[in-house]
Amino acid sequence: MADKVTVPKLVGMKKKGRKVVMVTCYDATFARLVDRTDVDAVLVGDSLGNVIQGHKTTLPVTLEDVIYHCRAVSRGLTRPLLVGDLPFLTYQVCMEEAIRNAGRLLSEGRAEAVKLEGGRRVADVVARLTSIGIPVMGHIGLTPQSVHEFGGYKIQGRSAKAARALLDDAAALEQAGVFGIVLEGIPSSLAGSISAKVTVPTIGIAAGPECDGQVLVLHDLLGLDEDFRPKFAKRYAEMAGDVKDALGRFSNEVRSGDFPGPEHSFD
Ligand code: KIV
Repeated sequence: MADKVTVPKLVGMKKKGRKVVMVTCYDATFARLVDRTDVDAVLVGDSLGNVIQGHKTTLPVTLEDVIYHCRAVSRGLTRPLLVGDLPFLTYQVCMEEAIRNAGRLLSEGRAEAVKLEGGRRVADVVARLTSIGIPVMGHIGLTPQSVHEFGGYKIQGRSAKAARALLDDAAALEQAGVFGIVLEGIPSSLAGSISAKVTVPTIGIAAGPECDGQVLVLHDLLGLDEDFRPKFAKRYAEMAGDVKDALGRFSNEVRSGDFPGPEHSFD
């Protein structure tokens, strides 16, 4: 069994040239499975709003939602680093709320670090949280909590000015003390430039191969949603088909009387 992944170990992976592998997870059953692999970090993302709750955006997700799912995941996880996402409006209103909410993700959610979205505009919050011992992962680019500002889920940083702004955001986050930065939905070459500029690991999603690691939503990589097929999310399994097949066979056997058989029944 490999060693527990901690924040300093994750940071050290960049120096060692080892790619960081991160997946999202929302419950204890999947957490136990992830725990038996060599995935480095697990994110209880506010993507739970889409994946678990069926919303179109992550905006309705509450801190209580993330705490609930984080606690569940923590019960199944022993080795990977557990990161909890700070939902919309839990860190933007004022510093006191940001500190309390981030702290609750650690104390009640059992997360070992928090993630928040934004660059220079959240640098003061990042600096304050890290100053009191709360490890923070940054997240820039196509940040889903800003979907309305972007006018949809569109690749960011395509113009020279926008690319420069994201480079400045990454530098500000590093300066403020993040231990890693998620780069989402930006051109591969820009992700490469940011990764070369900062000393902390960059973890990409829809950001090409030049990042220091990659993250995918667990349900996307397992092929659990037949209707969601974004270009960036490679499917490593087609589990929706397996689920439907199992349910179809169960239905048939119940109706034919083949289930339950004697081996599933008690005298
Ligand atoms: O909420 C989430 O799952 C995320 C990842 C996609 C990075 O932020």
